[in-house]
Amino acid sequence: MVKSRPYVIISAAMSIDGKLATRTGRSNLSSKKDLIRVHKLRKTVDAILVGKNTISIDDPLLTVRYVKGKNPIRIILDSKGSLSPKSRVIETAKKISTILVISENAPRKVERFIAKGVEIIRCGKNKIDLKKLLEILGKKGIKRILVEGGGTTNWYFFKEKLVDEIILTVTPYVLGGSTAISLVEGDGFGEIPDSFKLKKIEKIQNEIVLHYTC
Ligand SMILES: NC(=O)c1ccc[n+]([C@@H]2O[C@H](COP(=O)([O-])OP(=O)(O)OC[C@H]3O[C@@H](n4cnc5c(N)ncnc54)[C@H](OP(=O)(O)O)[C@@H]3O)[C@@H](O)[C@H]2O)c1
Repeated sequence: MVKSRPYVIISAAMSIDGKLATRTGRSNLSSKKDLIRVHKLRKTVDAILVGKNTISIDDPLLTVRYVKGKNPIRIILDSKGSLSPKSRVIETAKKISTILVISENAPRKVERFIAKGVEIIRCGKNKIDLKKLLEILGKKGIKRILVEGGGTTNWYFFKEKLVDEIILTVTPYVLGGSTAISLVEGDGFGEIPDSFKLKKIEKIQNEIVLHYTC
């Protein structure tokens, strides 16, 4: 099916029991081999998108480092514009294109981000309107987006039926904890939604990588 919006891939590493991180927010679940695979995937996309909490908790760079390749644009969803300007993505925004997506009614001033080279997109009144955002990103020439979490951001994409592919590493840990972030957070579906198609299973030593398409 031909879509006018960018192609959306959800990428995550989860524990055997479906958690993205421990209850204290530790999320380095992937092996080095899996990280190399993820970085190979990153260089094939135009943009990597994450939610604000992932930046606040993990402070990731979201770059291509384990293999050679071009860094995708980094996109952060932060409806209130409350992210710390000291985050590594913000501090490196003059070198690597970075977009902060805020709502039209975001109370915080954005000058401190603009001064650091960050592009601001205002989209949606109080919450970020993802469909509209993808339309805007499509018009900017962004064709493939890798959504790298966390669970809340993943939920918004599933809820709006905006997911074309899922690439999921099952890592050999059981983390437990009712407050530990799961692969998909949010309200969840009341009815069983349309299924995804299992396209490929890769076994990489102690991990399994599952590839689903819609
Ligand atoms: N294992 C992995 O692969 C992996 C990957 C990524 C993250 N993680 C872990 O996941 C945890 C963070 O996940 P999380 O679920 O707490 O948070 P998250 O998804 O990183 O960020 C959620 C926040 O982003 C903003 N946001 C996201 N989508 C939005 C939308 N459509 N509209 C408006 N705002 C939106 C909201 O904040 P506002 O309402 O303030 O805007 C929301 O509360 C961390 O512990 C991290 O380590 C693990």
